[in-house]
Amino acid sequence: MSILLLHPGSTPGISTNVATMQTFKVCYNVDMKSFSSFGLDSGLLADYSHDQFPTRLHAFHGEPLELSERGSTFYGFIFDTVHGARAKIEMAGGRVFALDKGMYFCSNEPLIISDGIGIAIERLMHNGMFMMGGPVEKNGRLKYIDGCTDSLLIPPVRKGDPCLNSLHFPENIDQTMHTPPSMRLGLVSDGGGICITPDEETVMYPGQVFGIHTMAPHKFRTGSGQTMTVVAYHPDSDFGPGDEDHPMLNRTSVDGVAARDIPLIRTK
Ligand SMILES: [Fe+2]
Repeated sequence: MSILLLHPGSTPGISTNVATMQTFKVCYNVDMKSFSSFGLDSGLLADYSHDQFPTRLHAFHGEPLELSERGSTFYGFIFDTVHGARAKIEMAGGRVFALDKGMYFCSNEPLIISDGIGIAIERLMHNGMFMMGGPVEKNGRLKYIDGCTDSLLIPPVRKGDPCLNSLHFPENIDQTMHTPPSMRLGLVSDGGGICITPDEETVMYPGQVFGIHTMAPHKFRTGSGQTMTVVAYHPDSDFGPGDEDHPMLNRTSVDGVAARDIPLIRTK
């Protein structure tokens, strides 16, 4: 059973005191709704560190957010900036980066984010690779389902690793009900729509942070003249390179034979 620690005031739950002497609301996955919605408050919004894929959902809203856990990888998205400035990312090693609205990052070093509004999703005990990109494009590069498209913003370094995606909904989309084999955490970066689960319908709006729980049935719908873009974190993947299958290996040939098929020369 996984425990979800919610930021005070986020959603209904059971109040309890924890070691920090702050009052948090504690929910157990068995009681949770399929779809959870969070405001873009600063700090820890949800803690899935007991999940099969340990993850924490953080958000920032102008004031500095320090992400200090060593051994974690942080997947971030800048929904907006404040004070007319760019969001500032200060790495533990001293490097500083400025990101515009709509940009994203992946860091395997502790960092401090300031002057930005957005989310940072922490995958514990995972060593991703540092990268930054964006802004997110208007349409996805890949065809998804029911007229939607998506782009793989931060791909798995190796097959099985987490990834960050953008998902794009044109107008008048009515998705097929579907279930994710692992949690989905994300943010509506543009536009809006409705999330439909067997229990309820939730209006989605720009800046809304959301979580969809493992195996939770859901679908999204957009109306006439309504489009939506969401940025979505997956804690795992079934796609990506591995030692048996990657471009450097596959596209190296010796006398016309791909190196992947020559065990004698392959790195042990
Ligand atoms: Fe979905």
